[in-house]
Formats: sequence, structure tokens, C-alpha cells
Amino acid sequence: MSSANPSPSSSAAPSASSLFDPVQLGTLTLANRVVMAPLTRCRAGADGVPGTLLVEHYAQRASAALIITEGVNISPSARGYDLTPGLYTNEQAEGWHRVTEAVHARGGRIFPQLWHVGRISHPDLQPGGALPVAPSSLAAVGATSYTPGGFKPCPTPRALDTDEIPAIVRDYRRAAQRALDAGFDGVEIHAANGYLLEQFLREHSNRRTDRYGGSLEDRARLLLEVAQAVASVCGAGRTGIRLSPVSPVNGSEPDREPLRTYCHVVEQLDALGLAYIHIIEGVTQGSREVPGGFDYAALRNAFHGRYIANNGYDRRLAIEACAQGRADLIAFGRLYIANPDLVERLRADAPLNTPDPSTYFGGGAAGYNDYPDLAGAARSHETAQPD
Ligand SMILES: Cc1cc2nc3c(=O)[nH]c(=O)nc-3n(C[C@H](O)[C@H](O)[C@H](O)COP(=O)(O)O)c2cc1C
Repeated sequence: MSSANPSPSSSAAPSASSLFDPVQLGTLTLANRVVMAPLTRCRAGADGVPGTLLVEHYAQRASAALIITEGVNISPSARGYDLTPGLYTNEQAEGWHRVTEAVHARGGRIFPQLWHVGRISHPDLQPGGALPVAPSSLAAVGATSYTPGGFKPCPTPRALDTDEIPAIVRDYRRAAQRALDAGFDGVEIHAANGYLLEQFLREHSNRRTDRYGGSLEDRARLLLEVAQAVASVCGAGRTGIRLSPVSPVNGSEPDREPLRTYCHVVEQLDALGLAYIHIIEGVTQGSREVPGGFDYAALRNAFHGRYIANNGYDRRLAIEACAQGRADLIAFGRLYIANPDLVERLRADAPLNTPDPSTYFGGGAAGYNDYPDLAGAARSHETAQPD
């Protein structure tokens, strides 16, 4: 496994930069620091194959320094949302190959976000109608799964046996290999937002007594085994990971000492030499303010790779965070839903389109591939002029 980052990204001392400056991210040189955040949109086929809608969607956004795709299921039992894409069949990998080719043809870079939802699922989506799996047999209170019959409450899951866990690590490794085969530039591991890896990490959802539960070291074990497995396939310099240290979404409860938890994890990830940590600051899609505070700089300082910041960033906050050296790159979620040419708009300080939440999950091109870029907006403005 390649464990060293190239020297340009190996500065523990955060330095000031412009949002529009190039940056080294692991082994990749990126044109600027504007990242498209992962956004599940439920528009793949029922078989998890990404089709032409996704090809067009990601190609439209290729001017991002890096696109991180929506969550991509690593196995049939990793699924918690209908019509989400996968990377566990050849057909899915072929579909993704069309996506990566289209993005590369426009000069873009793209990583899939490897995903296992754990207990955020429903028997309607599981092979054989089985219960979803999780570290412990504890339901995610208030969480829902997007089934073919609509959103349904997540049931109490089945706790994984210790001897089932190596197969999950293997599924991540295989999905990473398929990602490379499909032409992706690297891989992001989804360890945020209340899904499987976070369920193992957090004390509230993990009551195991084997080597995957109990102490902080044991709760972090699966996440770190997965990171090591993916890095062994992709190279650490092409592997990143997403974390949401204090976010309570999907029935997740933050640890009593979240800084201790996440400093441990980030120190161990640093030892693996990963290209980046991608941090959701505050409550995902909610407040950036953390009652009692959270020292994100401590995570940044514990890690020699890049720090991608996300959650509630607008142009001003993003420029400030880079200029003050608080972040190396900024990931934008909802702004990317509605603004395919977000980089150009931010650079020009141009007006932004507003996303329509009613089109977030499921549907076709409407609210997905029909948001105008600046040129399109100018064209429609011209045609609207009386002659
Ligand atoms: C429709 C929608 C789908 C999302 N899907 C994912 C996902 O698949 N993986 C993930 O890590 N986060 C997901 N998120 C969270 C976003 O990546 C991001 O963290 C959040 O929107 C906050 O960033 P923003 O303020 O720039 O939108 C999703 C958010 C939205 C609005």
C-alpha cells in the first residue's frame, strides 16, 4: 500500500490560500478548491445501474475541482434507498464507466462515495426481505429508509456476528477495485451521517462486546480496517473519507466526548496516509454552531493530508475559510444541485439558482439536469426580451 502523501499536501501547518488556486490532493493536482459534495438523488435504475441521466448530471458539473458522487452501495445489503447506484455488479461498473468518461472528457475529476447504510434500511430493500444489519440490535429512532413504497421507518436491525465482518471489509475492497476499473480517479469512504461505519464508531449505537465494540479503539476498528482495505486497492493518495463528528442525523447520537473519538480516528487515518478528511461541520444540512463548541482545527492539525470542509458554506464563508487556512478545499452540496457551473458562478460572484427540495429524491431530468448554467441563463434572458 502506498502510505505517503506527496510532499505538497504534507504540511501540518495550515496555510492561507485562495478558493480558486490549484491544490494538490493526494496524487492529484486539482484546478481549484471547489468540490461537489456527495448528493443522493435516487435516479439510477432499480438494478443500481447509473444511466444517461447520471452521465449528463455529472458531466454538467465537471468544472468542479473534484466531484464526489452520491453514496454508492458496496453490496446488495448495503442499500437503504431505492434507485441508488451500486458498485457490486459488472453492469453497474459499466454504467459508471460512461459517467467517468463523460466527466474526464470535460476535464473533471470524480470519486465515488462508497456506502453501506447499516441499520438505515428496510426489509423491502434487503435481499430476501431480511432485516438490515448493524453493530447492535438497536433501532435508529426517527430514521427512515426510501423504499419502492416511499419513505418507511427503519426497523430494529440484526446485530452482525463477528465472523460476518470480514465479508463487509471485502465488499468495500471489491467496490474500490470496481471503481478503479470504471475509471474513477480515487474513492471516498462514507463514514458520516449515521450509516454503518459511524454506527460502529459511536458509543450509542455500538453495544458490542467483541473486538468491534467497547473501547474507542475497538469501536473505530471497522472504520480503520475499511480505510486500510480501500487504500490497499486505490493507494492512500487516492483515498479520502467523510466524517461528521457531531452530526445527529439518521438517529445517530454524538459521543459524550466527540473530540476524543474523532482525534483518535483522524490520527489513525493520518498514519495510513490518506489524501483527505472530508468534515461535515455541525449538523448536516443544519446549524454550523455546536453547543459547547468543537475544535475542528484539532482534527486538521492531527492530519497531514488535506482538509475538505462542508456544511452551510456560501461564497463568503468559503473564501474566508481558505484565506484563514481553516480548510484546504470546500465541498458544496445544495448549491451544486442547482448550479452546474458553480465554480464559474463563485468566481464571477454571479447570482445562484435555488434548488427545489421537492425534486431531491427520485424523478427524471426535472430538478436534476435542467438547472441553467450562466450561458443558458443569458440565453433565456435574451429570448425573454421583447423584440
Ligand atoms: C438531496 C441530498 C442528498 C444527500 N446525499 C448525501 C450522500 O449521498 N452522502 C453524503 O455523505 N451526504 C449527502 N448529503 C449531505 C451533503 O453532502 C452535504 O453534507 C449537506 O447538504 C450540507 O452541505 P451544503 O450546506 O453545502 O448543502 C445529501 C444532502 C442532500 C441535500
